[in-house]
Amino acid sequence: MALKREDGRKASDLRPMQAKVGVVPNADGSAIFTFGDTIAIAAVYGPKQLHPQHMQDPSTGILRCNYDLLSFSVSDRKKPGPSRRSQELSKMTQWALEPALDLEGFPNTVIDVEVQIIQADAGTRTAGINAAALALAHAGVPMRNLVCAVAIGKLDKDIVVDLDKSEEDFEGGEGPTDFPVAKLANTDQYTLLQLDGKIQPERVKEVLSFADESCAKIYEIQKKALKEALGE
Ligand code: CDP
Repeated sequence: MALKREDGRKASDLRPMQAKVGVVPNADGSAIFTFGDTIAIAAVYGPKQLHPQHMQDPSTGILRCNYDLLSFSVSDRKKPGPSRRSQELSKMTQWALEPALDLEGFPNTVIDVEVQIIQADAGTRTAGINAAALALAHAGVPMRNLVCAVAIGKLDKDIVVDLDKSEEDFEGGEGPTDFPVAKLANTDQYTLLQLDGKIQPERVKEVLSFADESCAKIYEIQKKALKEALGE
């Protein structure tokens, strides 16, 4: 039987995306990125001298990311402040972005990236990475490439892209599977592969092929947002 998604999307269809840079006037760079009802804002500060001094690296600048959900972003109010989940997602946001940056020209400095989720309907870590990559570019941080991210998942036996919360909570068949992927745009260089759930090893190639197709679409949205900011 053909796969039916509740919102009528085909397996390879992303939710509607929007991106805009320059949304936080007080930051050095900023961006908003949305997947449907999931809205992420990223703000970049720096490069600036890193304190305490013993954490400085004289050979390069370092990236520091902080991801969080705002209290009103989820249906049950989220307790403000850091949690195990936000610490994990902050770290993996940093790991996903680092390979795109070239910070050797900024020894002893730090670049802070703040990712806040305004509204959450699954895919917040990947929306956050897309927003953060745009915010870094908007801040003029030297980058080898943009980073594009998307969550691939499984609905029973079918691979689908960009699950919303109702899909992520799907319990039927083989159970829920969430496979967030980030990569350097237009390359085969993946900067994040996570897996929550189960997938047969022989199906990972299929997941990556869905991720590649989705990331190409995300890259176009990101490029358009940057060009709009440059007034082109
Ligand atoms: O958001 P993402 O899919 O990257 O990460 P997750 O940890 O798999 O969370 C999936 C979804 O669960 C989030 O996008 C939110 O919609 C929801 N969630 C929530 O309602 N309350 C939380 N404290 C955390 C997540």
